[in-house]
Amino acid sequence: MLTQHVRNGWYLGAWSDEIGRTLTQRWITDLPVCFYRLPDGTVTAIEDRCPHRKYPLSLGHLDDEGILQCDYHGYRFDGQGVCVGVAEQADRPKAALRRFPLVERDGVIWIWPGAPELADESLLPETSWLTDPDWTHVHGVVPLKARHLLLLENLLDLTHETFLHPTSIGNAAVAATPIDVTVDGDRVGFSRRMVGIEAPPFYEKSCGLTSPVDRWQDGDFYPPGIFVLNIRVAATGTEEPEGFHMKVLYGMTPARGNETHDFYALGRDYLIHDEELTKFQHEQQLAVMQEDVDALEAQEVMYATDPGGKAESSIRSDLAALRGRRAVAKMLAREQQGDSAPRTRASA
Ligand code: FES
Ligand SMILES: [Fe+2]
Repeated sequence: MLTQHVRNGWYLGAWSDEIGRTLTQRWITDLPVCFYRLPDGTVTAIEDRCPHRKYPLSLGHLDDEGILQCDYHGYRFDGQGVCVGVAEQADRPKAALRRFPLVERDGVIWIWPGAPELADESLLPETSWLTDPDWTHVHGVVPLKARHLLLLENLLDLTHETFLHPTSIGNAAVAATPIDVTVDGDRVGFSRRMVGIEAPPFYEKSCGLTSPVDRWQDGDFYPPGIFVLNIRVAATGTEEPEGFHMKVLYGMTPARGNETHDFYALGRDYLIHDEELTKFQHEQQLAVMQEDVDALEAQEVMYATDPGGKAESSIRSDLAALRGRRAVAKMLAREQQGDSAPRTRASA
């Protein structure tokens, strides 16, 4: 299984509310990145490795003018990553930091760790629900000691809900219902319609529904590391638009080695001022993610200690996950061959 990371693609770098006037280090695709806001409020992200002697700049200081000083020997950099001076000498050392393309939108800071000239905003998913006044959501990030492809497969194969999350979002109906898979260039989507099923506990409590219910799952993978899930639940016989709508955004961002930042946002378009419900949903989201983290970390050990092992066995419900895995492998191969033109654009 691949351990190298695609860099010519958007990743979720941070939530907007994580980044302010302090320096924040985050490893992304094995690159150390220092995030901070400039005096005008815009976010910048530069390589967190001083060109002088490689000290992390995130251990330095940011002044009121937005000049970042390395706290080892005093090199000073502007928000573009250009060295503007050093205390020891009058002339400016020739040094510049790599600055990463960013897009800040809907409370998300997206980062493109690869070739800047290829950064294409049209590849980003639609996320207006994160700031839509008719929706509410919770968000955060969980550390994961497993490679991002394992998380990707976990999200593209929700059959695992039946076995890994039986006390919250899973029950027998999930594994018993086949998925439809669509592939559009690099993009992979799947959908599953469960009709007249028993409501899993999370949905019973979240929507005040009793069985039977209909439940829809529509997932879209925006390679290399973004996943959006549309969830709809309704009492059986209710038209889908009158049902309960939820959305989940995952940013699966490779960190360093086989570690991953597991960014999540869970939103809903009903009872949006019900704080109890928000608290319940957030706790459940974190509990479900912890079950995934535990499973993926256990799985990571098995992959890491068996690199050339026996071929894996697969079944029909793996289709979306296998397509996702293939999409990432193809992107990486294109990147390594110097052909990085994206194969899919986001639809309007
Ligand atoms: S390592 Fe940054 S100034 Fe020396
Ligand atoms: Fe899961």
